[in-house]
Amino acid sequence: QHGRNLFCLLDDWCAQFPRSCTTPEALQTRECCPPWNGSPCGFSSGRGVCAPHPARDLPKPVDYRVNWPRAFYDSVCTCWGNYDGSDCGQCLPGWRGPQCQQRHHVERKEITDLTDSERETFLSSLHQAKQSLSSRYNILTSNDTTVDGNYAFQNTSVYNLYVWMHYYSAKSYAGSENNAAHRGPAFLFWHRVFLLFIEREIRELTGNQDFYIPYWDWTRTNHCNICTNKYFGGVREDGRIDSASLFSNLGIICIHSDASDPAHLIRNPGKDPIYKTLPTAADVEDTMATPLFDTPPFDITSKNSFRSKLEGFQIPSDSRHLNASMHNLVHRYFNGTMSLVPTAANDPIFMLHHSFIDKLLERWLQDHSEATYPESDQVHPAQRAQAYMAPFFPLRTNNYYLGRDTKSLGYSYKEHSLSRSAAGHITATQAEGRGDCETNVRRSKTSL
Ligand SMILES: *[C@@H]1O[C@H](CO)[C@@H](O)[C@H](O)[C@H]1NC(C)=O
Ligand SMILES: *[C@@H]1O[C@H](CO)[C@@H](O)[C@H](O)[C@H]1NC(C)=O
Ligand SMILES: *[C@@H]1O[C@H](CO)[C@@H](O)[C@H](O)[C@H]1NC(C)=O
Ligand SMILES: *[C@@H]1O[C@H](CO)[C@@H](O)[C@H](O)[C@H]1NC(C)=O
Repeated sequence: QHGRNLFCLLDDWCAQFPRSCTTPEALQTRECCPPWNGSPCGFSSGRGVCAPHPARDLPKPVDYRVNWPRAFYDSVCTCWGNYDGSDCGQCLPGWRGPQCQQRHHVERKEITDLTDSERETFLSSLHQAKQSLSSRYNILTSNDTTVDGNYAFQNTSVYNLYVWMHYYSAKSYAGSENNAAHRGPAFLFWHRVFLLFIEREIRELTGNQDFYIPYWDWTRTNHCNICTNKYFGGVREDGRIDSASLFSNLGIICIHSDASDPAHLIRNPGKDPIYKTLPTAADVEDTMATPLFDTPPFDITSKNSFRSKLEGFQIPSDSRHLNASMHNLVHRYFNGTMSLVPTAANDPIFMLHHSFIDKLLERWLQDHSEATYPESDQVHPAQRAQAYMAPFFPLRTNNYYLGRDTKSLGYSYKEHSLSRSAAGHITATQAEGRGDCETNVRRSKTSL
């Protein structure tokens, strides 16, 4: 019911909250310390403690993603050791076992390198997440959360929880274009944490500890090579998903209940003339050659900023006449659900796209161990170095993950099975048998 069901809501504010923190008592006492094994934050099991958080001394914000989670709570769980989660009942990424003392590691592969059974397991796990109620979280749906007590909570599936979280973070602050997870220095790490979050929820749901999100290397192709029924569904002329695909009837969350916001997945890859190509291997190399992590004013106008280039606000200077690049271009290329960034996570391709963006982040960080998170007050409030990332529990500052590599977080990226030549394209012998190789090589040359 919660799987196929459509939630077409008006312009509401939404987020995820641990179930036990949405009771009237928790909202009244301003305490979000869910019990684990009978005591708040697993205190009597030595897992963590319910404690006041530093943000509670900051002014109460108008937008509740600012000074997170000050708008709702004064006390939350602080987890000790390798414990993690809103109730300290989970392990930090990279750890497992009853006491979270065993290392855990997965290798994220390129989606087309998965074996048939790995691919089937991945796709069916997504389906299970779409059909299963989240036992841990509720979502908040209230049209004006600046009014105290104007809160409504509802159940959601594990997958839709993730869609809501992205929507919530991507929504603009009142009167500005800024948000908590895009258009600024938090963009890359926020999405890293977001993928780790849903990966862990799906592991718990399916019992498969080795579940991971593969990546989609869109520089290997000149079209959506995963828009087939073997992967995420072929596309029909009208943008709907082929009826033979598992994804054809996937209910999605829409934000406006009108015709501009259809109740099903839409993909028209390459159909929009100003976003008709995918970024190339040369675009990736150009992005990788950017020396600074981010630059003032730390927004969409930042120049020579690795973050802004990878996010896609710096347009390549070649002759393709694009109006977006890199991450943004891939979203726009789909000319459908993926293109409306707040609702984009409805399309399962979103997570593979972001897994590849995260792979590029990791590669850049390996080459720039000196990089730091900007400490400037020019950074908009929810993305400042010392601000907590909304809407995650337990609390983590935006700069927390810079300096922690993916290995320490329990994962790494397995290179694509086909290597590339130094010029960034697939070499002729390796490309034999690949239908898209000729175009790929030609595109790389044009843009070099
Ligand atoms: C939004 O909330 C106000 C109360 O704060 C209520 O009067 C109004 O009907 C709500 N609008 C919608 C669309 O739910
Ligand atoms: C959400 O699901 C739980 C567990 O099935 C149920 O007890 C609760 O009443 C549901 N809440 C709402 C608001 O539907
Ligand atoms: C795309 O970019 C060109 C300049 O490169 C500009 O003239 C045009 O207005 C842009 N189109 C849109 C829809 O932004
Ligand atoms: C799809 O492309 C058309 C132009 O061909 C554009 O007008 C429309 O806004 C695009 N839709 C989305 C959702 O990107």
